[in-house]
Amino acid sequence: MVRETRLNLDDLIYPLFSYPGENIKNEIKSMPGVYQFSIDKLVEECSEVVDLGIPAVILFGIPEDKDTKASGAFAEDGIVQRAIRAIKKKHPKLLVVADVCLCEYTSHGHCGMIRDGEILNDESLVVLSKTAVSLAKAGADLIAPSDMMDGRVGAIRSALDAAGHTQVAILAYSAKYASAFYGPFRDAVGSQQAVGKSYLDKRTYQLNPANPRESMMEAALDIDEGADVLMVKPAGAYLDILCQLRQLTDLPLAAYQVSGEYAQIHAAAEKGWLDYAATRDESLLAIKRAGANLILTYFAKEIAEEQA
Ligand code: PBG
Repeated sequence: MVRETRLNLDDLIYPLFSYPGENIKNEIKSMPGVYQFSIDKLVEECSEVVDLGIPAVILFGIPEDKDTKASGAFAEDGIVQRAIRAIKKKHPKLLVVADVCLCEYTSHGHCGMIRDGEILNDESLVVLSKTAVSLAKAGADLIAPSDMMDGRVGAIRSALDAAGHTQVAILAYSAKYASAFYGPFRDAVGSQQAVGKSYLDKRTYQLNPANPRESMMEAALDIDEGADVLMVKPAGAYLDILCQLRQLTDLPLAAYQVSGEYAQIHAAAEKGWLDYAATRDESLLAIKRAGANLILTYFAKEIAEEQA
């Protein structure tokens, strides 16, 4: 009765990776229990998600081809566009969040367009807006820009409205840090090699882990530009940011417990150095306690299974 914080099934968003082909379910080496799914298998996975009572999924895509223009990101028949249509056909009530970024689709692995080794912020906005509209058209309920270009929330909001998608909301990755905890995700989407040896070479657009005030400024801009939900990412090492954001705004807050946070619990448990379930549950409770209303986590399915 005196418990102050409770993790609810309703808080969880389950990340899923769609992969070309049919009948494919590839386990990601550094993320035990997480898979790349061909669309047929992805729809089956969503049936389990719905049966377990998880309210939402967030989709990422691994395209057949990558190029410098990120063509696969905004293609009418792109991997995520097709996945959304297939999921919505079978599960119209499952909330589908579409991550919007170019890094899964660019041959160089950066989140925006590049010329002479530099990120082109404003040219990237055009491509991101096109991508957002195509995902909304496919049926996405929420658009989640994770690219960290300046001005993207405003650009995407205008583009969505102009295309008639006024009801599609924006979940902005506002405080997205240039983090080493994304390591295993780059395995998951096959962009690790493209970005070179360092996980940190996105530092011209992602936030410096040393900067809490900068993330408050980013959040204020996103609110101004029309964000409906704000996100902090990674979660566990950035609980102070979540706490501070809770003071800054009454908007709903999301936190992304990223691939590296998931992988480290698995790895330590495998060695017998940590109690798997207890560490997992504590890590999620801490994120909720710090102020997150929504939690994106690769643990969502097993939490739901245990609560069932
Ligand atoms: C960018 C994106 C990344 C993640 C989600 N969206 C990787 C990056 O910014 O390099 C990481 C998620 C995770 O590590 O679980 N599209």
